[in-house]
Amino acid sequence: MIDLRSDTKTKPTPEMRAAIAAAEVGDEQRREDPTVNELERRVAELLGQEEAVFVPTATMANEIALRTLADPGGEVVAEENSHLFVSELGGPAVHAGLMTRQLRCPNGRFTPEQLRETVRAGDSTHTPRTSIVSVENTNNASGGRVWPLEEIEAIVATARELGLRLHLDGARVLNASIASGVPAAQIGAHFDTVTLCLSKGLGCPLGALLAGSAELMTTARSLKHLFGGAMRQAGIVAAAGVYALDHNIERLAEDHARARRLAEGLFEAGVPVDLEQVETNFVQVELGPLGLEPAEALERLGQQGIGLSMTAHPTKLRAVTHLDVGDEDIEQAVELIPRALGALARA
Ligand SMILES: Cc1ncc(COP(=O)(O)O)c(C=O)c1O
Repeated sequence: MIDLRSDTKTKPTPEMRAAIAAAEVGDEQRREDPTVNELERRVAELLGQEEAVFVPTATMANEIALRTLADPGGEVVAEENSHLFVSELGGPAVHAGLMTRQLRCPNGRFTPEQLRETVRAGDSTHTPRTSIVSVENTNNASGGRVWPLEEIEAIVATARELGLRLHLDGARVLNASIASGVPAAQIGAHFDTVTLCLSKGLGCPLGALLAGSAELMTTARSLKHLFGGAMRQAGIVAAAGVYALDHNIERLAEDHARARRLAEGLFEAGVPVDLEQVETNFVQVELGPLGLEPAEALERLGQQGIGLSMTAHPTKLRAVTHLDVGDEDIEQAVELIPRALGALARA
């Protein structure tokens, strides 16, 4: 099967497994694991922050961030289809006691004006106070689109003026950095907290980090314990992260180039694909003009040995490139996807 369902599907390479096998380990809860400590130090630097905390998943990193940044009863503002809102089972309400304010916007990017219109200052008797704004970069639901640095800076300036805290769901911020040429530290330094996921484009079996100031990370570390995420000899998995920092960041450009090749090949073959949307490693296929329901389309693709997946949009599927997808797979996918979906080649 050519598995384009998600960049989370990668399996660790023999070299990554060798790094895991050779890892020096210790008691992570007591900060005695040298490999976790090294990973945390390097990721903090990579993201332009003072400190980072290693956690099992990006979901946990996001949820700890919200709890760290706001008191219960406040509000978190983000794009309506952000992972925080549609894929974390109501975690902001459950773990941090926050209300959610959802912004509708094209390409996953809202504007300073939208933020101004949405934010509530809160009063002591009735209205909740808006506490946090969260930016997702790259934005998953819009097809891996990148926030340009100037737009981030404009949101940050407005948020600071309004007294908001800022979280970056940068599960794929390294894709954004590689695609835009802006160092991840320059993006990350603008935020109070930053999530980075290791098990997507970086190809690790699991793991994520939350980065921020030393003061915020002290709180985050105790919340990690509270959430049951404090581990023991976690260097076994952190070693994969250290390996990925050395070997798998620059190569994200290859995933992006393959996504572009796939998008162009599909477009030529008559599959409805918005080429402009393809900025990183996602390609979204619009099923409406093909007259297919997502479940039927997935079934037909599966019969041809191709895995795509659903998106937040009812008429769109996505193909995601990653470490385990090579040029040959893309060429085959360009042949097989149009056939499976019954697309007609463009004249
Ligand atoms: C933008 C974004 N944030 C957070 C996550 C959560 O990642 P995890 O599966 O590690 O919890 C995902 C996963 O797809 C994601 O796309």
